[in-house]
Amino acid sequence: MSKKIILSGIQPSGNLCIGNYLGALKQWENLQNEYESIFLVVDLHALTIDQIPSELRNRCLSFVAQYVACGINPDKSKIVMQSHVSSHTELMWVLNCFTYMGELNRMTQFKDKSKNTKNINAGLYTYPVLMASDILLYQADLVPVGADQKQHLELARDIAIRFNNKYSETFKVPEPYISKNGSRIMSLQNPESKMSKSDKNLNNIISLLDDPKTIKKKINKSVTDSGSEIIYDEIKKPGLSNLISIYHSLSLEPINTIEEKYVGKLYSDFKNDLSDLIIELLNPINSEYQKIMDDKNYLFDILKEGSDYARYKSNKTLSKVYRKVGLVKNK
Ligand code: TYM
Repeated sequence: MSKKIILSGIQPSGNLCIGNYLGALKQWENLQNEYESIFLVVDLHALTIDQIPSELRNRCLSFVAQYVACGINPDKSKIVMQSHVSSHTELMWVLNCFTYMGELNRMTQFKDKSKNTKNINAGLYTYPVLMASDILLYQADLVPVGADQKQHLELARDIAIRFNNKYSETFKVPEPYISKNGSRIMSLQNPESKMSKSDKNLNNIISLLDDPKTIKKKINKSVTDSGSEIIYDEIKKPGLSNLISIYHSLSLEPINTIEEKYVGKLYSDFKNDLSDLIIELLNPINSEYQKIMDDKNYLFDILKEGSDYARYKSNKTLSKVYRKVGLVKNK
């Protein structure tokens, strides 16, 4: 029997952060052993926000290198640059015609993102339809994402079900895979909002490429509260609880074991140990990343293999869709 398929993607905006690692990349690394795996760098999605072209170009390659440095193995998984495979935008057009404005109006990420920018472009609005195309094109069974993507995934499912009901079974209806640990890492300075790689204030995030000194500094400066007990309480101690949750996701020690370990100790003791855990994770990722970035040919080979595979696979779905909706085939 053929393996089930997982698909996910990250937008190359800003610096990949431990939120992306814990919510997505770490899950991908584990799942790639069991599933046929496709991981996208969704560069077209990144155009929905203002970009400096030369920076975007470098970031796209740097993301591929960071995927590999985080353990995404190109021998097991396909890494695909979204813009290299034109079927993503082609299917998007069709799905646009099966998505209601009311559905897009309800997307909380669109509401949040459009609050903070003057650039409220149509791409920002139809962004979830491109995401649905990414997923449905490959007949993905499972989509490993952080909690913030749940609503987008529900929309992808609704679109798939609607299309299947109208034209007979065409798309696999994908299931979300949202890990219990680390699926919602919060900002270090503002624990009410999620840690975001495009945050302009770099003290809010731990970037995967931060050096040990910077990590220590950011964790030491992270917001906690005026109490002294190290206990997990999201309401009364949101900052500390976020740090405990990062500790828990990295060490896999249960929360109550962590609390017991730090009875009678200071916030600063806990923060020092947490910094060490993060440094232990990121040090090898960083050195692997530097090596991979020095070998651009290797990066382009990975992308070539990814796009060859993705074109073949996605074209099958796209042809089926075109036929079902009544478009005439080119000779
Ligand atoms: P993006 O680029 O915002 O985030 C990439 C992945 O990281 C997860 N994530 C987090 N997890 C835990 N804590 C956080 N603070 C945190 N911040 C981000 C996200 O949930 C996501 O899994 N629309 C998507 C990209 C996308 C996609 C797709 C995903 C495009 N097409 C198809 C899956 C399948 C996005 O912007 O994610």
